[in-house]
Amino acid sequence: MQETILILDFGSQVTQLIGRRLRELNVYCEIHPYNKILEITSDIKGVILSGSPSSVRDDKAPFADLSNIKGRLPLLGICYGAQFMAHHFGGEVNSSLAREYGRAMLTVVEEDNILFRGVSKTSQVWMSHGDTIARLPKNAHVIAKTDDVENAAYKIDGEDTWAVQFHPEVFHSKEGPKMLENFAMNICGCHGNWTPDSFIDTTVEAMRAKLGNDKVILGLSGGVDSTVAAVLLNKAIGKNLTCIFVDNGLLRKNEFEDVLDSYKDLGLNVIGVHAGNLFLSKLAGVTDPEAKRKAIGSTFIDVFEAEAKKIEGAKWLAQGTIYPDVIESVSVNGPSCKIKSHHNVGGLPEKMNLKIVEPLRTLFKDEVRRVGRALGIKRELVGRHPFPGPSLGIRILGEVTEEKLRILRDADDIFIRGLREWKCELPSASYPNEMADNLYDSIWQAGTMLLPVKSVGVMGDERSYEYTIALRAVISTDGMTADWVHLPYEFMAKVSNDIINKVKGVNRVCYDISSKPPATIEWE
Ligand code: XMP
Repeated sequence: MQETILILDFGSQVTQLIGRRLRELNVYCEIHPYNKILEITSDIKGVILSGSPSSVRDDKAPFADLSNIKGRLPLLGICYGAQFMAHHFGGEVNSSLAREYGRAMLTVVEEDNILFRGVSKTSQVWMSHGDTIARLPKNAHVIAKTDDVENAAYKIDGEDTWAVQFHPEVFHSKEGPKMLENFAMNICGCHGNWTPDSFIDTTVEAMRAKLGNDKVILGLSGGVDSTVAAVLLNKAIGKNLTCIFVDNGLLRKNEFEDVLDSYKDLGLNVIGVHAGNLFLSKLAGVTDPEAKRKAIGSTFIDVFEAEAKKIEGAKWLAQGTIYPDVIESVSVNGPSCKIKSHHNVGGLPEKMNLKIVEPLRTLFKDEVRRVGRALGIKRELVGRHPFPGPSLGIRILGEVTEEKLRILRDADDIFIRGLREWKCELPSASYPNEMADNLYDSIWQAGTMLLPVKSVGVMGDERSYEYTIALRAVISTDGMTADWVHLPYEFMAKVSNDIINKVKGVNRVCYDISSKPPATIEWE
């Protein structure tokens, strides 16, 4: 049995953070839309109601039927969740005179309340709401307040129901993690035993039961998600898993060989397919970014399908889908236009009549990395930056040619190796709460672009007329938003010098200082 906390999502921007905080406590949780309440099974130890951009007083305010939950299971309402319970269970919610937004000092008024065990009498919290609870629900009493908010937190007597109008899940609520810990461990009674090792054991067992003796195929990309999915499945079903790794001719320097070697070291059954010429022929003369993406995507599907057909009797297609993709596709806000890795084989399962298996669909990215580490995958592989399916094809702006690929590969190699070799003491971008020991690990994603412009320079005594390289390095959590990294000047000076001196065809290097939005991470 997997102890689980259910989070009902009313559409807040920060619902995923509630999940993150619980996972950091090794407590397994699932986020579901407010209107699709699961069957309440015995493994659900408690329920959290999230915040929402809506007001409970709106006609179309999100409504959740709590009849199987409230009074039966431990329940914590956060922000809208707290107001929702006040509104529907005998209290009153008003629009407050001033929007309560930002930092506030919380004062605990019931100090022995279990939700505040180990929490300071006063601590900073984060408020974000336009409404306020004017009257508490029936049988409730106040347990904390702020200067402006009288009913900042309450408890309903005679049942395990708590509510807070602030957001304990966000960084600015300094002791919020302690409150969530009290809820999960001391109120719901979770043991915090959901670790990478326990995940591996239960997933391997579940995969064996699901897949039996069936054959499975999986497209490897060299990225973290597909690699961890493959190693996990290999542990579960061994040789019944066949992995396909396609060289699309657009990979980085030595990438195909290096990654293929590490896969073999991991004992995976991998078919490496050289298809570079085919991809390049499809790209000849194509300059429009979307047309390039389409050409690369459809060629990939053709090549993958041709290889997959050779594996007789394959019944399943395995994919490295991860939790943010899953939450987003069922989100109350509807799927956004994010580009997802599994779109790289879009349409294939239906065409080939394959069932889908997704062993990582409950994990966040850093959890995938932790599982990878626990599976013994090398740090260089688990800590790799994301890399887009269309590869360098969308980092060479305009038409892709062999010559431009050579230039970009060499420049990118200098940049990426430089990042790996540059020591630093910065937080890790891959593992929250850990430190990175080099620049590469402190960055979420870095890459190099080749611009379709030439400019004049001088090399020795000669005039040059050559290409411009743009470097990009960003910090992000999921690729949806991103900020450019303040790389050290000395580092940039060295990399720029090395690229211009060593890569024939480049006489200028720029650094991209745009955030996403409004820019994107990739240039095409
Ligand atoms: P953008 O450029 O939209 O990229 O800010 C966000 C993240 O997605 C990656 N990306 C892709 N990944 N197939 C993928 O598997 C794609 O077609 C694709 N396009 C962009 C990008 O590298 C970044 O991490």
